[in-house]
This record gives sequence, C-alpha cells and structure tokens, in this order.
Amino acid sequence: MSKQRPPLTDSLGRIHSNLRMSVTDRCNIRCFYCMPEENVEFKPRHEILTFEELGRFARITASMGVNKIRITGGEPLVRNNLATLIAELNSIGGIEDIALTTNAMLLANQADALRQAGLNRLNISLDTLNDDTFFRLSRRRGIDQVLAGIEAAQQVGFDMIRLNAIAIRGMTESEILPLARFALERQLELRFIEFMPLDADDNWGNEAVLTGSDIRKTIEAELGKLEPATRPDPSQPAVDYQFTEGKGRIGFINPVSKPFCETCNRLRITAEGKVRNCLFSHQEWDARQLMRDDASDSEIEQLIRECVLDKKAAHGIDTPDFQKPERAMYQIGG
Ligand code: GTP
Ligand code: 5AD
Ligand code: SF4
Repeated sequence: MSKQRPPLTDSLGRIHSNLRMSVTDRCNIRCFYCMPEENVEFKPRHEILTFEELGRFARITASMGVNKIRITGGEPLVRNNLATLIAELNSIGGIEDIALTTNAMLLANQADALRQAGLNRLNISLDTLNDDTFFRLSRRRGIDQVLAGIEAAQQVGFDMIRLNAIAIRGMTESEILPLARFALERQLELRFIEFMPLDADDNWGNEAVLTGSDIRKTIEAELGKLEPATRPDPSQPAVDYQFTEGKGRIGFINPVSKPFCETCNRLRITAEGKVRNCLFSHQEWDARQLMRDDASDSEIEQLIRECVLDKKAAHGIDTPDFQKPERAMYQIGG
C-alpha cells in the first residue's frame, strides 16, 4: 500500500499519528505494578507477530498518517535482533520518529546496534537508584545493569533520554529527590508517572496514587522553583516543568489526577497482533488473524479504522462504573 490514505480519525476528531507497538509480552523483571508475582502466562512464540507482520502493520498505519512509532513490551530488548525491526521500520516512508521504552537491563550490549539501526529516542524506566528498593518493586536484582545501560546509551550518542519513574503513595516518596538529582546531574529528562489500574494483581487503589502535583511540591521544597515549560508536542502525555535557575526539566505524567485523553493520538498493537484504541479499552481488533488469513492491506486498514472509530472519549478511571481492562500493562504494552 503506497498511496497516502485519509488520516486515522476517531469520532471526536482526534487524529491518530502515534503507534505504540508491543514486540513481546515477556520481561526479565517482575514489577509488581505491571506483572503478576507468580504464574505469569506468556504467549507462545507462534502467537507473537513476526517482524514481517509488525513491519506490514506499521507500513499500513504510516499510509494513514502515523509518523511516530514507539516500541514497547513486556521488555522489548528480550526480543531477539530487535535492531533488525528498527531498521525495517526506519525504511518506511513517513515514519519520522522511532522510539523505545525499556527497563534498560539489556541495554548496555544493544545500545550501539539500536542506534545504528536508526532508533531516535529512548525512554528508560528507572523507579529507584537503590538496589533493595529495586528488588522490592521489581522482584529481581539488577539496578547496576540498568545504570550501565543508561551510561552506555549516553556513550553511543543517544541524547534526550527520558527516565520514567512510577509514583506510588506510601512506597516511592523516598525515591523522588535522589532520582531528580541523578537526572539533573546527567542531563536526563525525568518524568514521574502516576500509578494506573493496570497491575496484574489488583493492588491498585485511588489511595495509592501519588500525584504529580504532590511530587512537584516535594521537589520544589528541596531543589528550587519549577515553572511550566513549553511542550514540544501537545499530544505527549507528560506536562513539563523547568527549574527557574535553568538546571533542567522534569515532567509529570498524570493520567489519574489530570487525564489527557482529550489530546490522545495513540493507537496500540499488542505483541500478538490485537489492535487497541486505548490502554483501558475492553475490546480489541485482531490484525494477526487477518494478516495470517491473507487479507489485503485495505481490509487491515478497515479493521484499524473500525477500532479507532470505537474509541471512547476518556478512560473513565474517575467514574463509578470504571472497570479495569482484562489485561495488565505487560500484555498491552504501556
Ligand atoms: P514520548 O512523549 O514520545 O517520550 O513518549 P511517552 O511518554 O508517551 O512514552 P512512554 O512509553 O515513556 O510512556 C510513559 C508512561 O506514560 C507509560 O507508563 C505509559 O503507560 C504512560 N502513557 C503513555 N501513553 C499513554 C496513554 O495514552 N494513556 C495513558 N493513560 N498513559 C499513557
Ligand atoms: N501504572 C503506571 N505506569 C505503569 N507502567 C507499568 N505499569 C504501570 C502502571 N500500573 C509504566 C512503567 C514503565 C512503562 C513501561 O510503563 O513505569 O515506565
Ligand atoms: Fe488515550 Fe486511553 Fe491513554 Fe486516554 S487512557 S490518553 S484515551 S490511551
């Protein structure tokens, strides 16, 4: 499909130009806010989209105006030869930005190849700098590997690396200042993310949401005044602040206290090829089935359009009849 198609617009006029593509549901750690503690069921290999299928899907969406792709997981770096997929995506006309969200455990060895393949940006999950807290949150040891991954990424030339830190009340308050200092020293852009009801073990509750505005107060009390910064892209989830003394920027992703669904431009595909119009949707559209049944590109285009047209106005976490999705974060892709 080479011809440019009409944009991918939902019933509220939101144009979808950002594709979040999960390449695996597997992960090398077990963060409690995302994965179950035990009996994790991963999809068998044959159910996971091949690079060819992912490339085809990306090409079809690019013909409808998708210009940004973010690779997610599970942990995307556990998928073999991920750089090959990046190179394939990089060859698609219209794709201007390819980014990756990773826990960085395997990044030190792969950073160079990913950069060579054309990866533009890296967002790295870093909830703590402390080894024991890392273990408490992720049920695995590995903070040194993560830090080595960040270091390697900077050395091979990735700039504008963003750090994602989960914010959970009663649990991560102690991490705020050490993370902020670490990020400022190394010129990394830290964002705090409010805990969302996407964990596998049903531990989420409203009282566990440590809000962006609470964190901002903690930072300002110790590190100096923050002022709103202009955002490069109004559809991005984070609201950015900068220190008045020019020390750097910090972002806040506040999906619970300040939902940003109104400007949502994101389409998702899970590792096994289900298309989703929202992190919180209860319905999925099966692109893998179509692709494996030899459907044409325009049939796949129709499926994607149907999915986007069905998108709700907002996630509704704050409404009384909210129900969390059937799948947890690692199965959706974040
Ligand atoms: P850039 O703005 O392109 O750097 O990426 P991003 O912040 O959208 O990507 P990233 O994967 O780093 O997302 C950070 C966090 O924001 C993750 O925990 C996501 O689940 C959350 N997030 C991203 N997109 C959405 C969204 O559409 N809705 C909600 N509720 N949360 C989102
Ligand atoms: N709520 C908020 N963010 C989450 N992430 C994973 N699970 C949740 C959740 N329940 C975030 C992690 C990571 C990204 C991949 O998704 O912080 O940065
Ligand atoms: Fe978009 Fe859904 Fe996230 Fe809202 S919750 S911003 S609609 S993906």
